[in-house]
Amino acid sequence: MSTPRQNWQSKLGFILAASGSAIGLGNIVFFSSNAYQYGGGAFYLPYFIALFLLGMPMMMVEFGMGALTHQSLPLALRRFAGKKGEYLGWWTIASALFITMYYVAILGWALGMMLGSFGSLFEPGVTAPFTPMTTPASSPNATVYFFNMISTWNPMVYIVIIWLANIFILRKGTQTIEAAVRIFVPLMWAFMIILVIRGITLEGGIDGVLYLFTPDLAGISQPSVWKGAFSQMFFSLSLGLGTMTAYASYLPKDADQVNNAMLVSFLNCSFEYLAGVAIFSLLFVFALNPAGTTLSLSFFVIPQGINELSALPWVVRLFGFGFYLLVVLAGLTSSISLIEAPASAFIDKFRISRGRALAFIAIPSIIGSCLFALPYIIDPGLSGDGTLGLTLLDITDHWVFNYSLLTVGFFEAVIIGWIFGADKLRAALNQHAKVKLGRWFEFLIKYVIPLVLLLVIVFSLIAEWPLYGSAYDMPGYGWLASFIPAFWIVFTLIFAYLLTNRKTKEA
Ligand code: PHE
Repeated sequence: MSTPRQNWQSKLGFILAASGSAIGLGNIVFFSSNAYQYGGGAFYLPYFIALFLLGMPMMMVEFGMGALTHQSLPLALRRFAGKKGEYLGWWTIASALFITMYYVAILGWALGMMLGSFGSLFEPGVTAPFTPMTTPASSPNATVYFFNMISTWNPMVYIVIIWLANIFILRKGTQTIEAAVRIFVPLMWAFMIILVIRGITLEGGIDGVLYLFTPDLAGISQPSVWKGAFSQMFFSLSLGLGTMTAYASYLPKDADQVNNAMLVSFLNCSFEYLAGVAIFSLLFVFALNPAGTTLSLSFFVIPQGINELSALPWVVRLFGFGFYLLVVLAGLTSSISLIEAPASAFIDKFRISRGRALAFIAIPSIIGSCLFALPYIIDPGLSGDGTLGLTLLDITDHWVFNYSLLTVGFFEAVIIGWIFGADKLRAALNQHAKVKLGRWFEFLIKYVIPLVLLLVIVFSLIAEWPLYGSAYDMPGYGWLASFIPAFWIVFTLIFAYLLTNRKTKEA
């Protein structure tokens, strides 16, 4: 069944949807843990540079590709670079599916924490010592609560709920997406502003802000900091996964993509710094130490900080609930866009109905998401991640997050810069732009971005040995460290090959 291509009902609808996509777990969960891991002040400067050097120009490229072709990524790239382009497009979609699966799993846990806010997560005044899983503390602190939760089957229920919510929002495409983001996006800004005000008005909160923003020039010389900043920038702006091209494909041809890209990047990065301020202030007020993985800041440290707010118990609970509601809302407005990228790609290529495309994606992906919630404990010492699901998630995230987005960015820049022509894209974008792009834009797309991305990818691959995760103490499961990256590469390459070679159904 073929349906006419949809459109956003208003520019505001598009901006809300695209900024809702950009603002997500990346801004709250990953930004703060990356900033912490790479040493606060050493991180935000490369990150800021990445915004102007890579982020904004690449968003213009991705918006431009969607609006010029009115196609989602694989077919848009086919127009620019033939079959090779389409292959890259499907490879991107395949990687996006991996990210979607674990992204939804994390959202499921956030939902679990949200529900726990009125259960035992914020038992008044308790910070039980952490004894990994063995003796579930009677009055759990956040870490114990989290690990107790993920070592049960409950998160699978939460994951299915989040998937159903996504499908519900996506059921009529732009129309239902727009209806959801009109409510969710303003709400999440409101919650974030409350969190910031609470954080910086606590005594000592400002020290956290200073830690985040005091430049640390020594740290900047490490290539790993740049890799961290670049991948974080791509992820945070929802680049390199086909999302922004899919969203922009529903825009009219004469939309001002330069303005759109500047606005969405600005909204995203403002939210990100606000989240950094809120989280680092809590960190410093309670002198918390976020050892461990990416998730620990938002899942152990922040709730512990909230628990220590010397407020009435119901205020603590309400605050905790508000924090996880914020995470869930921000995550949902992103996960819908992650799913819309493959959905629109399938609809464009095979002219199937939206319902069929969504079912085709959701059924295997729900199973995939649930794998990331497998509760078997494989690392009792918790030097790694404890459960099988969390270990799968951590290793998958390492590979897909760090490498696929940047690789896609590299090839997109090469295709637009050298095959289609950066000058042509610049002319097309400028035609409807109030602020005109200068020649520097072509220079960035053709030379700077591909070169910088290539360097970062090659350097990080060289520094990769021994494989990520192989140091974990997980008897019997050590093979996962090499199996996961191999599986990801083989699966995505085959997927891309098969889909590129299927016939495109003409309108
Ligand atoms: N930008 C989202 C976030 O920060 C994640 C995302 C990446 C969404 C890529 C869509 C595409 O959480």
